[in-house]
Amino acid sequence: MKQNDLKNINICCIGAGYVGGPTMAVLAKHCPNIQVTVTDHNLERINDWNSIDLSKLPIYEPGLDEIVNKYRGKNLHFSSEVEKNISIADMIFISVNTPTKTKGVGAGKASDIKWVEACARQVANNAKDHTIIVEKSTLPVRTAEVIKNILESATSIKSQKNPSISFDVLSNPEFLSEGSAIKDLENPDRVLIGGENNQAIKALSEIYENWVPVKKILYTNIWSSELAKLTANAFLAQRISSINSIGALCEATGADVREVSRAIGTDSRIGAKFLDAGPGFGGSCFKKDILNLVYLASYFGLHEVANFWESVVKLNYWHQNRISRLIVKKLFGTLSDKKIAVLGFAFKANTNDTRESAAIQICKELLEEGAILSIYDPKVSRKQIKRDLNFINDPYEIKTESNNLNKYFIADNIQETFQDADAILILTEWSEFSNINWESAYKMMRKPAWVFDSRSIVNPQKVLDANLKLWRIGDGSKISNI
Ligand code: UDX
Ligand code: UDX
Repeated sequence: MKQNDLKNINICCIGAGYVGGPTMAVLAKHCPNIQVTVTDHNLERINDWNSIDLSKLPIYEPGLDEIVNKYRGKNLHFSSEVEKNISIADMIFISVNTPTKTKGVGAGKASDIKWVEACARQVANNAKDHTIIVEKSTLPVRTAEVIKNILESATSIKSQKNPSISFDVLSNPEFLSEGSAIKDLENPDRVLIGGENNQAIKALSEIYENWVPVKKILYTNIWSSELAKLTANAFLAQRISSINSIGALCEATGADVREVSRAIGTDSRIGAKFLDAGPGFGGSCFKKDILNLVYLASYFGLHEVANFWESVVKLNYWHQNRISRLIVKKLFGTLSDKKIAVLGFAFKANTNDTRESAAIQICKELLEEGAILSIYDPKVSRKQIKRDLNFINDPYEIKTESNNLNKYFIADNIQETFQDADAILILTEWSEFSNINWESAYKMMRKPAWVFDSRSIVNPQKVLDANLKLWRIGDGSKISNI
């Protein structure tokens, strides 16, 4: 440690993204004596974090702007001077992205840890004393070993000049959920710290103890911590695929997935959370982490294990494709030049994040069928929607063949999307979509006018009373099967 007092240390976080930004903001809030600097090699992103206009912060999370406003410039800083901040840090959090590899060994499944490796090298070259490295990014199991190897090689060279240089590596995965990140960080279910060196573990634990009850801090070995993170996300994603598969069965049999969820959720062994059928899971973590697990299992020859987890991802794609196919079917088998109002593009409400959003594949498939889309999302930028719809397909995506992918408009408000639309498709559960005036929507639309609610947020009776036809996810009752 460069400072003897554990309470007055310097923290540097590498990666000012969805994880690094909110995590460090909450840490700074609860640890006034710690100087926290969030660094990123992307200068534009750092400038946005430093923007006086808080609506320009690069990440939208309820409550985040308030914390940034209060602590920025005091003990919370945003900087693109990564190396300088590494050199004065006692503790370094690595929060860079670890996307799925697109080529080479493990392409399509394994996580690409090139950024993590680059960070380890930056730390090795610039750290000046004893430094604790904390893995925050979700990483393949045994990444800590890679980091340690890089740091140890550097230590042996540097220690001739500076004998006090040394490193400890800890795993401290994030479990925050976007849209409720601040709440999750303020009041986590648990904080997981994996490591070998007790002093390093104690140093990190004491930081969290400023606001997290000790009984919620769990200690494991480093590999269990890395694997626990992948497993938590795999279990959560598996629940979504499970309930979505049952939703399809409900539609076929006359059952209602909401009733089934409620009935099974009261079993305390199953629990009521994470049982909402929807358009399929999105977000930067679920697919990537499961594929990581699939790769790991295959690597160790556990092919049945790999197939089991891979089926969760396959079902998710099948489910998204099922939604676009049923829209085609309900609209008389063709979408050619029909207008569809798409409400919501983010992968869930209360975030501007579109990574792996179900909206991307569903919109591409509707465009492929010849539809004209009018897309509205209250938080996702125009630029982002365009980028996503023009992105090259990944190997799991249902392939599209033609070039009919450009007939879409991005609307500034909900009303604009309704004009002459044949259908309204709700893909994100933004609360404003549950308060639509269906009678006035109906008047603006072409008849027969449809509502496809993939999030179960409309009041079915109000939609039907306004003479609209309705399909709701997992609803096999008569009202949705007109
Ligand atoms: C997440 C999490 O860290 C990880 O757990 C999850 O599995 C997926 O990625 P997130 O914060 O959501 O990261 O990613 P992102 O918003 O892309 O932020 C990463 C930031 O790291 C970017 O701003 C990028 O510019 C920065 N970065 C990347 C660096 O500063 N240096 C690098 O070498 C690489
Ligand atoms: C997830 C994990 O929850 C978090 O612990 C981890 O650190 C990162 O990955 P996040 O991706 O932000 O968080 O969102 P989450 O709330 O888990 O939702 C993931 C996807 O599942 C979303 O597309 C969401 O709409 C969908 N979902 C979630 C459902 O379809 N139904 C549900 O009941 C819950």
